Amino acid sequence: MEALEADLATIEGVDKLYAAASGRQVDALLANAGRGLGQAFLDQDFEKARRVVDTNITGTIYLIHKVGNDMRRRNTGRILIVGSIAGFIPGSFQAVYNGTKAFLNSFSFALRDELKDTKVTVSCLMPGATETEFFRRAEMMDTAVGTAEKDDPAEVANNGFDAMIKGEGDVVSGFKNKVQSAAANVTPASVLASQQSQEGRAGYRKAMMDLSLVYRPPLISGDRSHENRGAARRRRPVSSAVLSSTVVS
Ligand SMILES: NC(=O)c1ccc[n+]([C@@H]2O[C@H](COP(=O)([O-])OP(=O)(O)OC[C@H]3O[C@@H](n4cnc5c(N)ncnc54)[C@H](OP(=O)(O)O)[C@@H]3O)[C@@H](O)[C@H]2O)c1
Repeated sequence: MEALEADLATIEGVDKLYAAASGRQVDALLANAGRGLGQAFLDQDFEKARRVVDTNITGTIYLIHKVGNDMRRRNTGRILIVGSIAGFIPGSFQAVYNGTKAFLNSFSFALRDELKDTKVTVSCLMPGATETEFFRRAEMMDTAVGTAEKDDPAEVANNGFDAMIKGEGDVVSGFKNKVQSAAANVTPASVLASQQSQEGRAGYRKAMMDLSLVYRPPLISGDRSHENRGAARRRRPVSSAVLSSTVVS
């Protein structure tokens, strides 16, 4: 195992990663690097917004273009693209991020179709909110989605890995997310955007504290669910390095 530090939001960073394979055969490419960004679009620092696009889209498809060409030449290989169920939903207060994931979801199906007569498979993993560093890095810890209980990253990564090995087109990880993504297909975009603004708008913590001043739910004897929720939040996130960017044989 060799560790390499490279900024995959840049062409130079992707070139550096590709060069590190030194011509060895890449059997599987797991395009996982990505970042989010909270706040209303016009209030975002544009450089940060651009970095989301550069990482999630430009760096990702450049890497896939390089490695994918090698795979097609050899007529073998597996590509896993980490999209998101966010790609089905206009993401008020994380508009750029959701847009990048809509791009990746769509791109993944198109590339899969283009390669259908080869032995190169393309799979898209579409997780819902997952307990990683994502929301802290996206400056979204003061939002409903940022503070809610989330999916187990190891389980999500396993689902994606299994789908890639089986050569499946896509996998939405988790029952709740499957329902949400199915509902998104038949819900008007304006309604989805409005629902998302409840999830992504900052100020959630303050609103909850204000609410707790006037309403305290009774603690039912023997109800330990509040402790379980706390424990889940304290659970140490599994590093998303589980989904590292390339696997070289
Ligand atoms: N967490 C969620 O709720 C969720 C839901 C759906 C989809 N996703 C997607 O899942 C993927 C992994 O995110 P995560 O949830 O595991 O978040 P995370 O804990 O913040 O991890 C992000 C990963 O991407 C890497 N990365 C980000 N920018 C990079 C860059 N410019 N160059 C190289 N590596 C870079 C990070 O590397 P370092 O740690 O070295 O910085 C880290 O390994 C992302 O594509 C994200 O959009 C996440």
